[in-house]
Amino acid sequence: SKTGVAVLGIFVVDLAFRAGDMPAIGETIAGSGFAMGPGGKGSNQAVAAARAGADVTFISRIGRDAFGDLAIKTWETEGIRPRVARTAEAPTGAAFIYVHETRGDNAIIVVSGAADGLSPTDVDAAADAIRSSRVFVTQLEQPVAAAQRGLEIARAAGSITVFNPAPAGAFDDSLFALCDYVVPNETEAEALTGIAVSDLAGARGAGDALLAKGAGTALITLGERGALFHGRDRSLHVPPFAAGKVVETAGAGDAFVGGFAAALAGGADPLEAVRFGSATAGISVTRAGTAPAMPQRAEIEALLKG
Ligand code: RIB
Ligand code: NA
Repeated sequence: SKTGVAVLGIFVVDLAFRAGDMPAIGETIAGSGFAMGPGGKGSNQAVAAARAGADVTFISRIGRDAFGDLAIKTWETEGIRPRVARTAEAPTGAAFIYVHETRGDNAIIVVSGAADGLSPTDVDAAADAIRSSRVFVTQLEQPVAAAQRGLEIARAAGSITVFNPAPAGAFDDSLFALCDYVVPNETEAEALTGIAVSDLAGARGAGDALLAKGAGTALITLGERGALFHGRDRSLHVPPFAAGKVVETAGAGDAFVGGFAAALAGGADPLEAVRFGSATAGISVTRAGTAPAMPQRAEIEALLKG
């Protein structure tokens, strides 16, 4: 029978700069901190799921370079099984992350690099890992054709499919019918539906639109307001878990998705899994970095117990 989580996505190296306001064009400002570490939404989600206790396979494509070596080392340390091709033709990607030094919120430029070459053929090569996983997770940092192939394989095998349409991008609406869970943030939900998600009523409207497009359940993450679980028979607001002072919010969505997937793979019911994902995200924002900020299972359980 199926176990664990398969994640299809990208790895990049995050270069995080802390500063006051963003510099204007032509301006140079002094920052107050810099850190370099593992990132990329898919790999971050894999790390979150692994630390939350799931058995995790990660499917991707990286370069034959120092950033690619960091990817391999990261997955080794986290106990994640890579099904990852390495190419000499393109570099491993990188992300510029601006972090506001007091608020902790962020702006990101990500270059997918070698992962831009992820094709449906690469996904086919890892089909066995997708089929044997209880939960399949993907995003939109690699080409949508690869995400679609992964969702098709997982759906045909009866695995639970989780699609995090991030960053926002265009794709065919037929993709929604392959998804048990579509997990956008406010911005992505608005981009997908044209409905502004500035409050809970807006989130419910966007949730209805996502269900009408064919999604099984919409999970809309709402930043400091928590998340909305919007299913066909119930719609519930899940409040956020506050775990301390907010240091850096980059990667919070990945923490949510990874924690949610790990809980589902462990047999949790969907709402319980959303609470687990929210607690995972709540801890991650109190720490610097994206993947490095992901909590261990025991910490998540302690926060859930309150
Ligand atoms: O979701 C956060 C991630 O998005 C960062 O780690 C960065 O790499 C970008 O891909
Ligand atoms: Na963080």
